[in-house]
Parts: sequence; structure tokens; C-alpha cells
Amino acid sequence: MASMDSVEIRRLAPDQVDAYRSLMLEAYADAPEAFTATVAEREPVPTEFWRARLAEGDSEERVYGAIKGHELVGVAGLRFRNRPKTRHKAWLFGMYVRSEHRSVGLGRALVNAVLDGARSRDGVLLVQLTVSETNDAAIRLYRSCGFQAFGTEPMAIRVEDRFLAKVHMWRPLDRS
Ligand SMILES: CC(C)(COP(=O)(O)OP(=O)(O)OC[C@H]1O[C@@H](n2cnc3c(N)ncnc32)[C@H](O)[C@@H]1OP(=O)(O)O)[C@@H](O)C(=O)NCCC(=O)NCCS
Repeated sequence: MASMDSVEIRRLAPDQVDAYRSLMLEAYADAPEAFTATVAEREPVPTEFWRARLAEGDSEERVYGAIKGHELVGVAGLRFRNRPKTRHKAWLFGMYVRSEHRSVGLGRALVNAVLDGARSRDGVLLVQLTVSETNDAAIRLYRSCGFQAFGTEPMAIRVEDRFLAKVHMWRPLDRS
């Protein structure tokens, strides 16, 4: 049975790019309704695309991973904005927990790592995300982490012959 025991949540480093890329390709295949990207679109993309998300230091994008032993079992991305009028907003993206490791708290731990990461940058006041309207598990997870919905985009993505709406959510950051 899956458990949180011996799972570490930490920011991924550039040398973890292969594990990160393959987990995201798994995510797009496993949960096509949850992501805007597709396997066909992202498989040919150069490794540099994925590595840029793992750049070290105070970079615009970063990814937190749940690591059990040597296996990457979950991820969540955090993107900052650099434009002067929008740099108070951060973005949670690319959230995925491998199916056999779900329902033991890894999703919540990854969201909390993203929130801590957002708080660590001066001037960031809130985090936003979008989630498919049909994705009850993710919507419940985000609500339980303090996010609230502020709108729904109709026909946001097309998955085969179905159009899905996306719920836009946000959470102000409590800063001490
Ligand atoms: C959504 C997802 C990340 C949740 O990860 P997880 O590790 O299973 O989540 P957790 O165990 O931390 O659950 C935290 C809370 O989320 C909610 N939740 C998670 N899975 C749920 C499910 N299947 N049904 C209902 N609520 C669920 C619950 O409120 C839960 O809190 P509780 O256990 O105290 O009731 C995971 O199901 C997943 O990767 N799904 C496929 C990809 C995806 O949908 N990504 C999100 C894109 S926006």
C-alpha cells in the first residue's frame, strides 16, 4: 500500500530532467482531461524545454517533486511573472501524482511546497491555477489547500470530441 513514509518533497534539480520529462509524458497519457498539453505535442520537444523548468536559483519556473527512494512519484510546477504589473502573481501548473501513490497526502504536500516557494519570493501575493471542471479530485485538493474559484472558462480545452470547461482558482498568500 502507498504511504507518505519515506517520501521526500523537494525542488527538482536540472540533473533530474529525464525523470521529470517521463513523469509528465505519463501524466498527459494517464489524465488527458486534466492537462492542456498532449503526449504527441510534448514528446518531440527538446530536453532543454524541460530543463528550463528546473533551472537553479531564483528562476522564473521551478518544479517540486515527491521522491520515494529513487523514484519520482509526483510533481507540481510553480511559475513566477516578471512583468512589473503582474509580478505579484504566481502560477501553479503541471500537478501530477502517480496513480499508485495517490490518496496518501502527496498532492497536498506538493501544493504546500508550491505555496512555500511562492512565499519565498518578495512581492508575490497570490497563486492562481486552472483545473478542468470535471476533475473533482483536483478541485477538492485545491479547495482543501485554501484555493477558491473565481470563474469558469467555457470550452477551454478540446479532448477528442469533447469540450471541457476550466475553473480558474486563486489563493492569497498568508505572509508573516
Ligand atoms: C489530483 C491529484 C494530484 C491528487 O493527488 P493525491 O496525492 O491523490 O492527493 P492527496 O492524497 O494529497 O489528497 C488531498 C485532498 O484532495 C482531495 N482528493 C484527492 N483525491 C481525491 C479523490 N479521488 N476524490 C475526492 N477527493 C480527492 C481530498 O480532499 C483529499 O483530502 P482528504 O484525503 O483529507 O480527503 C491526483 O489525483 C492526480 O495526479 N490526478 C491526475 C492528474 C491531475 O488531475 N492533475 C491536476 C491537474 S489541475
